[in-house]
Amino acid sequence: MSGASVGRHSVADHVARWLQLLVDRGRRSDGLLQSGRAWETQYAAGRWDFLAQLPELARFSVLAGYICHLKPGAAVLDTGCGQGLLLGRLPNSCYSSYVGIDVSGSAIAVASKQQSERSTFLIADCEEYSPAENFDVIVFNEVLCCLRDPLRTVERYARRLKPGGLLLVSLCTAARGSATILWRLKRAYATVDEVRVVHAQKKVTWVCLVLCPAGP
Ligand SMILES: C[S@@+](CC[C@H](N)C(=O)[O-])C[C@H]1O[C@@H](n2cnc3c(N)ncnc32)[C@H](O)[C@@H]1O
Repeated sequence: MSGASVGRHSVADHVARWLQLLVDRGRRSDGLLQSGRAWETQYAAGRWDFLAQLPELARFSVLAGYICHLKPGAAVLDTGCGQGLLLGRLPNSCYSSYVGIDVSGSAIAVASKQQSERSTFLIADCEEYSPAENFDVIVFNEVLCCLRDPLRTVERYARRLKPGGLLLVSLCTAARGSATILWRLKRAYATVDEVRVVHAQKKVTWVCLVLCPAGP
C-alpha cells in the first residue's frame, strides 16, 4: 500500500470516527424519549430491574410517605408505573384504589402479579390514555423525561384530579430536560412540598415534588 493510500485511509477512519461520535451524541441526546418498543425490549432484557434495588428505595419511600400523610385512603393513578414498585411500597391502609399504566407490556406483566380487587395495571401510552375516573393523587414517578410533551400531559391529567387532589412528581436531575421540566412545573402549579433525595455513593439526586393545581 502506498503512503498516499495509507494517508487516505487514516483520514477516512478519522472522519468515520467523528461521524460515529456525532451519531452517538445524537442518540444520547434523545435520553429517555424513546419508543414503546424500545421500552419493551429493555424491560424484557432486564435493563430496568435495578429500579427495584436498594439505591432507588428512598424516592419510592418519599412518594409513598406523601400519599400516606397527605391523602390517606387515596384513589391513586401511577403513570409510567413500570413493574409496579410504588404499589409494592405503599402500605395497604394508604390507598383505596390504585391504577398503574405503562407503555411496556413486559413491565405490566410483572406489575400485574400484585393485582388485587383494589389495584389495576394497564398497558397504555400515558400521552394518549384518558382515565374514566378521577383521582386524589396522580403520580409521575421518573416518567416525565420520557415524554414528548411532559407539561401538556401533566396538564391533561391534572383535570382528572378530585377537588383538593395532588400531583406527585419524581425527577432524576441527571435525566435530560429535567431542570426545564421542573422549572415549568413550578410555574404552572403551586408547590406543596419539595425534597431532594441524594444517594451518597451513587451520586444521584432525585427531586420529589408535591404539586397542587389551585394553590395549597
Ligand atoms: C425510568 S422508568 C420509571 C419506572 C417507575 N415509575 C419507577 O420509578 O421505577 C420510566 C417508565 O415510564 C414508562 N414510559 C415511558 N414512556 C411512556 C409513555 N408514553 N406512556 C406510559 N409509560 C411510559 C416506561 O416504560 C418505564 O416503565
